[in-house]
Amino acid sequence: MGPAIRLVFLGPPGAGKGTQARELAREWGVPQIATGDMLREAVAAGTPLGRQAKSYMDRGALVPDDVIVGLIAERLAQPDAKRGFILDGFPRTVPQATALDRLLRDVGQRLDRAILVEVPEPELLRRLTGRRSCPTCQATYHVTAAPPRREGVCDRCGGSLVQREDDSEATVRHRLQVYRDQTAPLLDDYRRRGLLVTVPGEGAIETIRAAIRRAAEAGR
Ligand code: AP5
Repeated sequence: MGPAIRLVFLGPPGAGKGTQARELAREWGVPQIATGDMLREAVAAGTPLGRQAKSYMDRGALVPDDVIVGLIAERLAQPDAKRGFILDGFPRTVPQATALDRLLRDVGQRLDRAILVEVPEPELLRRLTGRRSCPTCQATYHVTAAPPRREGVCDRCGGSLVQREDDSEATVRHRLQVYRDQTAPLLDDYRRRGLLVTVPGEGAIETIRAAIRRAAEAGR
Protein backbone atom coordinates (compact mmCIF):
# COMPACT_ATOMS: atom_id res chain seq x y z
CA MET A 1 0.00 0.00 0.00
CA GLY A 2 1.40 3.46 -0.94
CA PRO A 3 1.32 6.63 1.13
CA ALA A 4 -1.95 8.49 1.82
CA ILE A 5 -3.38 10.50 -1.05
CA ARG A 6 -6.13 13.13 -0.81
CA LEU A 7 -7.44 14.49 -4.06
CA VAL A 8 -10.30 16.50 -5.46
CA PHE A 9 -11.30 15.90 -9.09
CA LEU A 10 -12.79 19.00 -10.68
CA GLY A 11 -14.19 19.58 -14.13
CA PRO A 12 -17.44 20.07 -15.97
CA PRO A 13 -20.09 17.38 -16.28
CA GLY A 14 -18.84 14.77 -18.74
CA ALA A 15 -15.14 15.57 -18.34
CA GLY A 16 -14.47 11.96 -17.32
CA LYS A 17 -14.04 12.47 -13.57
CA GLY A 18 -15.98 9.34 -12.69
CA THR A 19 -14.36 7.21 -15.41
CA GLN A 20 -10.89 8.09 -14.12
CA ALA A 21 -11.60 8.27 -10.38
CA ARG A 22 -13.10 4.78 -10.29
CA GLU A 23 -9.93 3.10 -11.66
CA LEU A 24 -7.38 5.28 -9.87
CA ALA A 25 -9.12 4.87 -6.50
CA ARG A 26 -8.89 1.10 -6.92
CA GLU A 27 -5.24 1.39 -7.91
CA TRP A 28 -4.36 3.56 -4.90
CA GLY A 29 -6.51 1.62 -2.44
CA VAL A 30 -8.58 4.65 -1.40
CA PRO A 31 -12.34 5.23 -1.77
CA GLN A 32 -13.80 7.16 -4.69
CA ILE A 33 -16.27 9.47 -2.98
CA ALA A 34 -18.68 10.59 -5.69
CA THR A 35 -21.55 12.72 -4.41
CA GLY A 36 -23.52 12.13 -7.63
CA ASP A 37 -23.31 8.34 -7.17
CA MET A 38 -24.22 8.62 -3.48
CA LEU A 39 -27.24 10.76 -4.31
CA ARG A 40 -28.37 8.42 -7.11
CA GLU A 41 -28.14 5.48 -4.68
CA ALA A 42 -30.30 7.40 -2.19
CA VAL A 43 -32.83 8.18 -4.94
CA ALA A 44 -32.96 4.50 -5.98
CA ALA A 45 -33.41 3.41 -2.36
CA GLY A 46 -36.18 6.00 -1.84
CA THR A 47 -34.61 7.40 1.35
CA PRO A 48 -35.62 10.87 2.66
CA LEU A 49 -32.31 12.22 1.26
CA GLY A 50 -33.08 10.67 -2.12
CA ARG A 51 -36.59 12.13 -2.20
CA GLN A 52 -35.21 15.56 -1.36
CA ALA A 53 -32.37 15.38 -3.91
CA LYS A 54 -34.30 13.98 -6.88
CA SER A 55 -36.06 17.14 -8.01
CA TYR A 56 -32.80 19.11 -8.05
CA MET A 57 -30.92 16.37 -9.89
CA ASP A 58 -33.56 15.78 -12.54
CA ARG A 59 -33.45 19.41 -13.57
CA GLY A 60 -29.65 19.63 -13.41
CA ALA A 61 -29.58 21.99 -10.42
CA LEU A 62 -27.29 21.56 -7.41
CA VAL A 63 -28.60 19.91 -4.26
CA PRO A 64 -28.41 22.38 -1.31
CA ASP A 65 -24.98 22.78 0.30
CA ASP A 66 -26.03 21.78 3.83
CA VAL A 67 -27.35 18.42 2.56
CA ILE A 68 -24.16 17.71 0.63
CA VAL A 69 -21.81 18.82 3.38
CA GLY A 70 -23.62 16.56 5.87
CA LEU A 71 -23.27 13.64 3.47
CA ILE A 72 -19.53 14.25 2.98
CA ALA A 73 -18.83 14.77 6.68
CA GLU A 74 -20.36 11.38 7.40
CA ARG A 75 -18.51 9.70 4.54
CA LEU A 76 -15.09 11.12 5.39
CA ALA A 77 -15.50 9.89 8.96
CA GLN A 78 -15.64 6.25 7.76
CA PRO A 79 -12.50 4.20 8.48
CA ASP A 80 -11.71 3.57 4.80
CA ALA A 81 -11.22 7.31 4.19
CA LYS A 82 -8.50 7.68 6.82
CA ARG A 83 -5.70 6.88 4.35
CA GLY A 84 -7.07 9.15 1.69
CA PHE A 85 -9.76 9.54 -0.93
CA ILE A 86 -10.66 10.86 -4.34
CA LEU A 87 -13.49 13.35 -4.11
CA ASP A 88 -15.39 13.22 -7.39
CA GLY A 89 -18.07 15.88 -7.92
CA PHE A 90 -17.43 17.62 -4.58
CA PRO A 91 -16.84 20.45 -3.77
CA ARG A 92 -18.99 22.25 -6.32
CA THR A 93 -19.63 25.59 -4.66
CA VAL A 94 -17.54 28.00 -2.60
CA PRO A 95 -19.38 27.11 0.66
CA GLN A 96 -18.73 23.39 -0.03
CA ALA A 97 -15.00 24.06 -0.55
CA THR A 98 -14.87 26.06 2.70
CA ALA A 99 -16.64 23.25 4.55
CA LEU A 100 -14.19 20.69 3.14
CA ASP A 101 -11.20 22.71 4.34
CA ARG A 102 -12.74 22.90 7.79
CA LEU A 103 -13.52 19.16 7.93
CA LEU A 104 -9.96 18.27 6.96
CA ARG A 105 -8.39 20.83 9.29
CA ASP A 106 -10.39 19.41 12.20
CA VAL A 107 -8.70 16.02 11.71
CA GLY A 108 -5.25 17.40 10.90
CA GLN A 109 -5.40 16.56 7.18
CA ARG A 110 -5.02 18.56 4.00
CA LEU A 111 -5.59 18.14 0.28
CA ASP A 112 -2.61 17.07 -1.84
CA ARG A 113 -3.99 18.26 -5.17
CA ALA A 114 -7.07 19.49 -6.99
CA ILE A 115 -7.06 18.00 -10.48
CA LEU A 116 -9.01 19.82 -13.14
CA VAL A 117 -9.95 17.70 -16.15
CA GLU A 118 -10.61 20.07 -19.05
CA VAL A 119 -12.77 19.22 -22.08
CA PRO A 120 -14.38 21.61 -24.60
CA GLU A 121 -18.17 21.94 -24.48
CA PRO A 122 -19.13 20.33 -27.81
CA GLU A 123 -17.29 17.17 -26.73
CA LEU A 124 -19.00 17.26 -23.30
CA LEU A 125 -22.37 17.32 -25.01
CA ARG A 126 -21.43 14.38 -27.24
CA ARG A 127 -20.20 12.41 -24.26
CA LEU A 128 -23.16 12.99 -21.97
CA THR A 129 -25.87 12.44 -24.52
CA GLY A 130 -24.15 9.14 -25.50
CA ARG A 131 -23.42 7.98 -21.95
CA ARG A 132 -24.93 4.79 -20.57
CA SER A 133 -24.66 3.99 -16.86
CA CYS A 134 -25.06 0.92 -14.71
CA PRO A 135 -27.48 1.67 -11.86
CA THR A 136 -26.16 -1.36 -9.93
CA CYS A 137 -22.37 -0.78 -9.83
CA GLN A 138 -22.20 2.81 -11.23
CA ALA A 139 -19.88 1.88 -14.13
CA THR A 140 -20.23 4.21 -17.12
CA TYR A 141 -19.95 3.57 -20.84
CA HIS A 142 -20.37 5.53 -24.04
CA VAL A 143 -22.32 4.22 -27.02
CA THR A 144 -19.39 4.84 -29.38
CA ALA A 145 -16.31 5.93 -27.37
CA ALA A 146 -16.44 3.27 -24.62
CA PRO A 147 -19.12 0.68 -25.47
CA PRO A 148 -19.76 -2.37 -23.26
CA ARG A 149 -18.86 -5.79 -24.73
CA ARG A 150 -22.57 -6.66 -25.04
CA GLU A 151 -24.91 -3.81 -25.97
CA GLY A 152 -26.96 -2.63 -22.99
CA VAL A 153 -25.21 -4.94 -20.49
CA CYS A 154 -22.65 -3.90 -17.86
CA ASP A 155 -19.25 -5.60 -18.36
CA ARG A 156 -18.53 -5.54 -14.64
CA CYS A 157 -21.73 -6.80 -13.03
CA GLY A 158 -24.08 -7.85 -15.84
CA GLY A 159 -26.65 -5.14 -14.89
CA SER A 160 -28.87 -3.48 -17.52
CA LEU A 161 -27.48 -0.13 -18.65
CA VAL A 162 -29.66 2.98 -18.61
CA GLN A 163 -29.45 6.58 -19.77
CA ARG A 164 -29.40 8.97 -16.81
CA GLU A 165 -32.46 11.22 -16.52
CA ASP A 166 -30.24 14.30 -16.49
CA ASP A 167 -28.33 13.34 -19.67
CA SER A 168 -30.89 14.80 -22.07
CA GLU A 169 -29.45 17.61 -24.19
CA ALA A 170 -31.50 20.39 -22.53
CA THR A 171 -30.55 19.29 -19.01
CA VAL A 172 -26.90 18.85 -19.97
CA ARG A 173 -26.85 22.45 -21.25
CA HIS A 174 -28.28 23.60 -17.94
CA ARG A 175 -25.70 21.56 -15.95
CA LEU A 176 -22.90 23.17 -17.98
CA GLN A 177 -24.28 26.61 -17.12
CA VAL A 178 -24.48 25.67 -13.42
CA TYR A 179 -20.84 24.54 -13.61
CA ARG A 180 -19.74 27.85 -15.13
CA ASP A 181 -21.70 29.90 -12.57
CA GLN A 182 -21.20 27.97 -9.35
CA THR A 183 -18.23 25.61 -9.65
CA ALA A 184 -15.73 27.35 -11.95
CA PRO A 185 -15.18 30.12 -9.32
CA LEU A 186 -13.51 27.51 -7.07
CA LEU A 187 -10.68 27.03 -9.54
CA ASP A 188 -9.03 30.37 -8.81
CA ASP A 189 -8.91 29.64 -5.12
CA TYR A 190 -7.25 26.23 -5.62
CA ARG A 191 -4.87 27.81 -8.14
CA ARG A 192 -3.87 30.56 -5.69
CA ARG A 193 -3.14 27.93 -3.06
CA GLY A 194 -0.87 26.07 -5.50
CA LEU A 195 -3.07 22.98 -5.45
CA LEU A 196 -4.57 23.07 -8.94
CA VAL A 197 -3.20 20.93 -11.76
CA THR A 198 -4.94 20.97 -15.14
CA VAL A 199 -5.03 17.82 -17.24
CA PRO A 200 -6.38 17.90 -20.82
CA GLY A 201 -9.31 15.48 -20.86
CA GLU A 202 -9.53 14.66 -24.58
CA GLY A 203 -7.96 11.58 -26.10
CA ALA A 204 -7.56 7.97 -25.00
CA ILE A 205 -8.90 7.20 -21.51
CA GLU A 206 -5.60 5.44 -20.60
CA THR A 207 -3.47 8.41 -21.70
CA ILE A 208 -5.53 10.81 -19.60
CA ARG A 209 -5.31 8.42 -16.66
CA ALA A 210 -1.51 8.38 -16.94
CA ALA A 211 -1.44 12.20 -16.92
CA ILE A 212 -3.66 12.33 -13.82
CA ARG A 213 -1.50 9.70 -12.12
CA ARG A 214 1.63 11.77 -12.75
CA ALA A 215 -0.04 14.97 -11.55
CA ALA A 216 -1.36 13.31 -8.39
CA GLU A 217 1.77 11.45 -7.45
CA ALA A 218 3.88 14.58 -7.86
CA GLY A 219 1.76 16.15 -5.08
CA ARG A 220 2.35 13.38 -2.54
P1 AP5 B 1 -22.68 14.01 -10.93
O1 AP5 B 1 -23.06 12.59 -10.99
O2 AP5 B 1 -21.49 14.40 -10.11
O3 AP5 B 1 -22.58 14.55 -12.40
P2 AP5 B 1 -21.55 15.55 -13.14
O4 AP5 B 1 -20.57 16.35 -12.37
O5 AP5 B 1 -22.47 16.30 -13.95
O6 AP5 B 1 -20.55 14.60 -13.72
P3 AP5 B 1 -20.84 13.45 -14.67
O7 AP5 B 1 -21.05 12.18 -13.91
O8 AP5 B 1 -21.91 13.85 -15.61
O9 AP5 B 1 -19.47 13.45 -15.50
P4 AP5 B 1 -18.05 12.82 -15.26
O10 AP5 B 1 -17.02 13.91 -15.35
O11 AP5 B 1 -17.98 11.91 -14.06
O12 AP5 B 1 -17.93 11.97 -16.60
P5 AP5 B 1 -17.92 10.39 -16.88
O13 AP5 B 1 -16.65 9.79 -16.36
O14 AP5 B 1 -19.21 9.76 -16.48
O15 AP5 B 1 -23.89 14.88 -10.38
C1 AP5 B 1 -25.23 14.68 -10.81
C2 AP5 B 1 -26.16 15.61 -10.04
O16 AP5 B 1 -26.08 15.32 -8.63
C3 AP5 B 1 -25.83 17.11 -10.14
O17 AP5 B 1 -26.39 17.69 -11.28
C4 AP5 B 1 -26.45 17.62 -8.83
O18 AP5 B 1 -27.85 17.72 -8.94
C5 AP5 B 1 -26.15 16.52 -7.85
N1 AP5 B 1 -24.85 16.71 -7.17
C6 AP5 B 1 -23.77 15.87 -7.22
N2 AP5 B 1 -22.77 16.36 -6.48
C7 AP5 B 1 -23.21 17.53 -5.94
C8 AP5 B 1 -22.62 18.51 -5.10
N3 AP5 B 1 -21.35 18.39 -4.67
N4 AP5 B 1 -23.36 19.59 -4.77
C9 AP5 B 1 -24.63 19.74 -5.19
N5 AP5 B 1 -25.25 18.84 -6.00
C10 AP5 B 1 -24.55 17.75 -6.37
O19 AP5 B 1 -17.82 10.43 -18.47
C11 AP5 B 1 -18.87 10.95 -19.27
C12 AP5 B 1 -19.01 10.13 -20.57
O20 AP5 B 1 -17.85 10.32 -21.37
C13 AP5 B 1 -19.12 8.61 -20.34
O21 AP5 B 1 -20.01 8.10 -21.31
C14 AP5 B 1 -17.69 8.09 -20.59
O22 AP5 B 1 -17.69 6.75 -21.06
C15 AP5 B 1 -17.21 9.07 -21.65
N6 AP5 B 1 -15.77 9.32 -21.58
C16 AP5 B 1 -14.99 9.47 -20.47
N7 AP5 B 1 -13.71 9.72 -20.81
C17 AP5 B 1 -13.67 9.76 -22.17
C18 AP5 B 1 -12.64 10.00 -23.13
N8 AP5 B 1 -11.37 10.23 -22.76
N9 AP5 B 1 -12.97 9.98 -24.45
C19 AP5 B 1 -14.26 9.74 -24.84
N10 AP5 B 1 -15.27 9.50 -24.00
C20 AP5 B 1 -14.99 9.51 -22.67
